[in-house]
Amino acid sequence: MSDVTITVIDREEKEHILEAPTDMNMNLMEVFKAYELPVEGTCGGMALCSTCHCYVLSEHELPKATDDEEDMLDQAFFVEENSRLGCQLKIADEIDGLKVKLAPV
Ligand code: FES
Repeated sequence: MSDVTITVIDREEKEHILEAPTDMNMNLMEVFKAYELPVEGTCGGMALCSTCHCYVLSEHELPKATDDEEDMLDQAFFVEENSRLGCQLKIADEIDGLKVKLAPV
């Protein structure tokens, strides 16, 4: 498989269906930006800004957050149990069907 489908709920509760390639070493923040969703990705994916903060709504088994991701989420606002940094989630077959919601800014 070379494309996965991801559902994103934006901050106005509008649903977007995104398709992302698994063979281009992309992360979820980059896909948000490619679809012009309102995600800044200010730090370029270094887990240093939290502008890619989102909530995972589906039951996918995702790789555990690294210490860097945990540290950044500790400083972010509106953090919930299901919070993740989009830039730390790699586009891979395992996340096909993932559903996320953008966190407020
Ligand atoms: S883009 Fe900065 S933390 Fe994800």
